[in-house]
Amino acid sequence: MSTENDISDSGVGGSGPGTARVSVRGLVRSYGTRRALDGIDLDLGPGVTGLLGRNGAGKTTLMRCLATDLEATGGRVRVLGRDPERSAERTEIRRRMGYLPQFPSFYPHFTVFGLLDYMAVLKELGGRRERHDEVRRAMREVDLYDRRHSRVRRLSGGMRQRLGLAAALLGGPELLLLDEPTIGLDPEQRIRFRDLVSELAVHSTVVLSTHQIEDVSALCRRVLCLDQGRVIFDGTPGELVARARGRVWEQGSRPAEGVTSWRLADGRYRVLVPEGVGNPDSTERVPVEPSLEDAYLLITGARGSVR
Ligand SMILES: Nc1ncnc2c1ncn2[C@@H]1O[C@H](COP(=O)(O)OP(=O)(O)O)[C@@H](O)[C@H]1O
Ligand SMILES: [Mg+2]
Repeated sequence: MSTENDISDSGVGGSGPGTARVSVRGLVRSYGTRRALDGIDLDLGPGVTGLLGRNGAGKTTLMRCLATDLEATGGRVRVLGRDPERSAERTEIRRRMGYLPQFPSFYPHFTVFGLLDYMAVLKELGGRRERHDEVRRAMREVDLYDRRHSRVRRLSGGMRQRLGLAAALLGGPELLLLDEPTIGLDPEQRIRFRDLVSELAVHSTVVLSTHQIEDVSALCRRVLCLDQGRVIFDGTPGELVARARGRVWEQGSRPAEGVTSWRLADGRYRVLVPEGVGNPDSTERVPVEPSLEDAYLLITGARGSVR
């Protein structure tokens, strides 16, 4: 039987093993013989952590393991001080966590209000009045209040994405797991989303996987890069950029094979030279200050023409 004391190590504070909301050691998750996660160690405290990596790197699998949606094949996972392998603790995690899956699926015949209310019931969010207030708050947060009577099947892709986000926000979760949350949002909604998440992250732990580098620069104080199920970078966005210094160039002609490059709007080429490759046609190249996107492409080992 678990008590409140069990979660004393999950309080607000730093992100060391003692205070972490999420603590993972040697996490392995296999599908058949293939390891989608291959020994992940992780401690997460409050604030937004960005999860970056190419398709297939293991981001969704990691999110699902933290969301109690998928069991680990090996290693140890603690979420909000609880063990997701124990059913009573798993329920407790689910009540206190919000999760937006990469591909949320909803009952198409429910209305927006009906669906969120149903999810609020599953989360055991108070009595009827309190619960309805919370559902209305979540709808307003994502700008869906005007569509509260619409059937889910009538919503556009962006609206469904916001509905998924509203569901994740129900109950003010201590841990928010968002798997590619900004897909389908227009620029205005994206700004609103960032504002919402950064406000939540003052007290909550947010993990956000994304391919949108602007989301990372705007929101994340910490970045984790995954590659083939392993953490290949863990640090601040600034530290990631620092790694790319001296490796980003621009030049007038199309570079030879073997480096990542793309043509810019002014007809020049931006060239990323990975560590250890050297800089063969350096006479023509002008060094430039790396962006977070350059650094991301370099660390994930993109090769050849990327655009
Ligand atoms: N349900 C599944 N069955 C089998 N293989 C899977 C399944 N889900 C993911 N994988 C594989 O696991 C690896 C990691 O996938 P995923 O976690 O979805 O990566 P990402 O979210 O970073 O794109 C990939 O090789 C993918 O093909
Ligand atoms: Mg994914």
